[in-house]
Amino acid sequence: MSNSSPIGFFDSGVGGTSIWKEVIQLLPREHSIYLSDSKNAPYGEKPIEEIIALSKKNTEKLLAMGCKIIVVACNTATTNAIQILRDTYPLPIIGIEPAIKPAALKSQTKSIGILATKGTLSSKLFSKTSELYSENINIIEVVGNGLVSLIEQGRQNSTEIKELLSKLLKPMLDARIDYLVLGCSHYPYLLPVLKEILPADVTIIDSGEAVARQTKKVLLENELMNTSANNSKHILYSNADPDILAKLVAAEENNLEVTYLDF
Ligand code: DGL
Repeated sequence: MSNSSPIGFFDSGVGGTSIWKEVIQLLPREHSIYLSDSKNAPYGEKPIEEIIALSKKNTEKLLAMGCKIIVVACNTATTNAIQILRDTYPLPIIGIEPAIKPAALKSQTKSIGILATKGTLSSKLFSKTSELYSENINIIEVVGNGLVSLIEQGRQNSTEIKELLSKLLKPMLDARIDYLVLGCSHYPYLLPVLKEILPADVTIIDSGEAVARQTKKVLLENELMNTSANNSKHILYSNADPDILAKLVAAEENNLEVTYLDF
């Protein structure tokens, strides 16, 4: 392991590429490996023990591949397993959590919506953060049942997902939210549909940029930035259908390989 080793990413599927894109844009010299555990998606409905076991499996694979740090590009895995991962493995591990804080601080209507998986919303870590703000803010939590499976099938712009989202967002609109927090790394792929459904005065926020900034900070603190001038290389593995993954990252740089791997 050295400064030129890759940054490792994992998610329950293709959604974590929304985070991966932000990180490689901010850190263009870094190499990366991305594991899309689509075979086991969605994580959000699984018992906590299973989420922990899958998170360990992915982390061990990335370690075996020589990664220098790991970005858990999944809110469900972060909120249920990050402490165990940090206690178990000897490398820096960065996680992603729903961005409640900026939404709560900026809200004018004092009403915000959080769309996330059941696993994230029922986690201790999420409850701790949301309690900090729930005194002054009405927080409408909605489980995005069914959304991840449709995105995993490449159907993020379908009529079906639009109908499902309209139903899911209704309680938030009734409560006059002015901020919607996307608490799952798959959901940034719903932005075009969300913008059609939501009134223009609702601001949508996710945690991608914050995770990229945190990744840079941790690399600097640990003197792990890649300083070599070589072109960066990115390998993305899916243990299901790599074509769906490939489509989501097609617009990114060309030193990119998307392939099947059984892990
Ligand atoms: N992308 C994930 C997250 O951020 C997991 C979704 C799922 O597998 O249920 O929560």
